[in-house]
Amino acid sequence: MKENNRGNFGSKFGILMAVAGSAVGLGNIWRFPYLAGENGGGAFLLIYIGLILVVGLPIVLAEYSIGKAAQAGPIKAIRRLTGKRHSPWESMGYIAVTVGYILLGFYCVLSGWVVKFFVESAFGGLVSKSPSEISSTLTVFQESVWQPIVFGLAFLVISMMIVRRGIDRGVEKWSKILMPTLFVMLILLCINSSTLSGWGRGLDFLFNPDWSEVTTRTFIDALGQMFFTLSIGMGVILTYGSYTRKGENIFKSKGLATIIDTSIAILAGVIIFPVVFSFGMEAGQGPALVFNTLPLAFAELPMGGVLASLFFLMLAIAALTSAISIHELLVTVAVEQFKISRKRAALLTTGGVAVVVAGCASWDVLFDGADFASSNVLMPLCGLITVLFAGWGMKSKVLRKTFTDNGKYSKGIYPIFLFCVRFIAPIAIALIFLSGFGFI
Ligand code: TRP
Repeated sequence: MKENNRGNFGSKFGILMAVAGSAVGLGNIWRFPYLAGENGGGAFLLIYIGLILVVGLPIVLAEYSIGKAAQAGPIKAIRRLTGKRHSPWESMGYIAVTVGYILLGFYCVLSGWVVKFFVESAFGGLVSKSPSEISSTLTVFQESVWQPIVFGLAFLVISMMIVRRGIDRGVEKWSKILMPTLFVMLILLCINSSTLSGWGRGLDFLFNPDWSEVTTRTFIDALGQMFFTLSIGMGVILTYGSYTRKGENIFKSKGLATIIDTSIAILAGVIIFPVVFSFGMEAGQGPALVFNTLPLAFAELPMGGVLASLFFLMLAIAALTSAISIHELLVTVAVEQFKISRKRAALLTTGGVAVVVAGCASWDVLFDGADFASSNVLMPLCGLITVLFAGWGMKSKVLRKTFTDNGKYSKGIYPIFLFCVRFIAPIAIALIFLSGFGFI
């Protein structure tokens, strides 16, 4: 159903799945376990959940409300809400777009790894390999240089093909089918992990905080992970908000999406750490963690090869829904800024991102740097400006009206939300920032 010429989401379930589809991705299944593994497990989890409650959720709600109130993508939204052609708040939109290009490039390269693992498990007998053979699969792939570039670019092109068709036929349709299927596969893997010898030790690691491992870096990593996994600090949630017009209980639906996202990350941890301990692997081995452990888990299952290929396919598709929504942001902004057609914008933005893909696929430093710069620096910065704008920059009457849907929902929660947006979230981000860079 179209309510204006920008296109709209068709149903509540559709938008929930699209928001969850944007949030759930490699951040939950690849990034969360490896960071938790590096930062002592349980302590990281607790800090991460705490940050989600007082910083993450308020940012999700603020972004969504700004987008919905303005009915426009990030840069135009600020213009509309301030009523000025230019204001310093606009920097938020520009940072968001910069992050979008960097992150999408990085994300496509990483998704390329996933696609490679799909191919290897479907045709290369990945699950019957030994732990050391499995870990060399990823290294050999990365060292070939051209492979990561080809896989990454192929992924980018698929994303482009979906985005250029428009929001209601693209994003929503895919997310509705994929999200539930992925969830079922995760549950299956979780049951499988519970039969492994390292189940108890795995859970202990994930849920029993070991505070001795906690450093400032743990907070920075948890903050960055929060931004990455919730897809905040880059105007994506804002853009989704701009595509909804109908009345809606924002707190309830976005709260639910946040809970889904967090649960899936925890589920991934519950699947992966028992494997780590059962096979005497290193929990803190970094980005390769998921790729090295999951094939071993599948090897324990009947028809492990088939299930592994299905799983990596699902994961690649979950990554695709995430890539699509970053791409969507870039296209929306390009259409609004340059007044060009959607199709042309899709092509233009893809060209820009392709450069980042080539860079991240060729040099490890760029790959790591892209992740760090976007998740740990630019997204928090953008998130900081967003909450400051929601709390102090825009008219609080407008914020209140949008958040409560004209006083219909969540009136009691609004003051708490406003307090987090005005004080807690900005102060928390600033503190973590300052201590991370050695200022305090
Ligand atoms: N949240 C996604 C994940 O966990 C990654 C991501 C970050 C993202 N920002 C985004 C996805 C914006 C879509 C849109 O994998």
